[in-house]
Amino acid sequence: MRYNQRGVALVAALVGILACAPADEPSPANGHQVSDHRAGAPGIGDTDFPKDGNGGYDVGHYAIAIDYTPAGRRLVGVTTVTATATQGLSSFNLDLAGFDVSAVTVNNAPATFSRNGDELTVRPARPVDNGARFTVKVSYSGVPTPRSGTTLGTYGFIPTPDGAFVAAEPNGAKTWFPANDHPADKAPFDFTITVPAGVTALANGEMVGQPTTAGGKTTYRWRERYPMATYLATATLGKFDLRQGRTPGGIPNLAATDPRFRSALDGLYTTSGTLTDHWATVFGPYPFGSTGGVVDDFAAGYALENQTKPLYGGFHPGENIIAHELAHQWFGNSLSITRWKDLWLNEGFATYAEWLWAEHKGTRTAEAAFRELHNRPATAPIWKYPPGRARPDDLFNQSVYSRGAATLHALRKAVGDQTFFALLKKWAADHRYGHVTTDQFIELAEQMSGKELSALFDAWLFQPRRPA
Ligand code: TRP
Ligand code: ZN
Repeated sequence: MRYNQRGVALVAALVGILACAPADEPSPANGHQVSDHRAGAPGIGDTDFPKDGNGGYDVGHYAIAIDYTPAGRRLVGVTTVTATATQGLSSFNLDLAGFDVSAVTVNNAPATFSRNGDELTVRPARPVDNGARFTVKVSYSGVPTPRSGTTLGTYGFIPTPDGAFVAAEPNGAKTWFPANDHPADKAPFDFTITVPAGVTALANGEMVGQPTTAGGKTTYRWRERYPMATYLATATLGKFDLRQGRTPGGIPNLAATDPRFRSALDGLYTTSGTLTDHWATVFGPYPFGSTGGVVDDFAAGYALENQTKPLYGGFHPGENIIAHELAHQWFGNSLSITRWKDLWLNEGFATYAEWLWAEHKGTRTAEAAFRELHNRPATAPIWKYPPGRARPDDLFNQSVYSRGAATLHALRKAVGDQTFFALLKKWAADHRYGHVTTDQFIELAEQMSGKELSALFDAWLFQPRRPA
């Protein structure tokens, strides 16, 4: 799902019209010929990650049904992707890493398919017309194999002794479901997760109904009704203690901790509630239906901003990291990047949120944090790495975080607090549930301040040297 608010009604109307056209006749709405079907591209067009995501369609919904047995580490899955073709499709790809695929159907008719690396190519029995809505159902099973990058550690669906730790940024969704695995295509998700009785399944959004148990297995249903990037999808499984309620501001709040981190449960619950409400006053209304967090005992040493349920890997989270992951719900999750090179729009903003939280608490001003960073010697590595162009082989470099945050502080000083905080709110409001680029942010900053800011952004985001 790729949309901005202005386009929604128009796109919905067009989809409606096209969906009514007979499937095998030329569509008068766009005048193309039925024979105009070709293979969808194997990548979505992010040149830094050429095989990530796919071309030729736009996902409208994911329905993921998995049955997972921690003892054998075996996952049996049926994922149904509903999409709209953006060209006539003779075939198209999904991203899927590992597993045996036993069957694929398109619009309920058996389709042929082939595998090549992480690309699953599906050839429907009848080609799909441009503009047509179609459903592809993939049945698969096997032992999930998480991925590891040189600077990232392990990510994806990571089996643990009692379940799984699922944190998939940037492209590990394909380790547990077939996907258009790139943040440029978002969609709502439904999850049906079956686990041995006694294991808890925690996915994004809110639980639908009560879990049902039969034959020693429990099935949980979760729904994330707002558009979500694939890397933010989770099905974290294991033994958990839960605390549920609402934030003081009234947002449903769910905290969960592995028994080893039981002492973190109340702090996680309370701080997540406080920070969700606090960021709503700074960034504008909370974009999703619930908030919270999960602490699992997998010693990742990092956290991921999984939508509605940030996941903390093997440590007792403090306020700073909770502030960071919850700020991502606005910057990164509601507003998604279109290309990975713009990652500072996620990490710079979330890191600046940590500075803002310390300032709000009175422990350290953002100006002090900025000075500390700016005072690093000209030879410090962050000055060699321009954060405005995250490198595919070192996406999560410290510069993307802290020099990205410093960019925002330099901007705040240039435009003044009133304009800066109005800008943060307008940025979040204008692109709610949508996609953003660095150029769009610079344009809005210039428009709202009435200032020419290209030199500031160039020095902070794009030059391989310490800004003056
Ligand atoms: N985005 C995470 C953060 O909040 C860091 C991160 C990147 C990550 N890739 C990950 C976490 C993979 C877990 C798994 O800074
Ligand atoms: Zn982050």
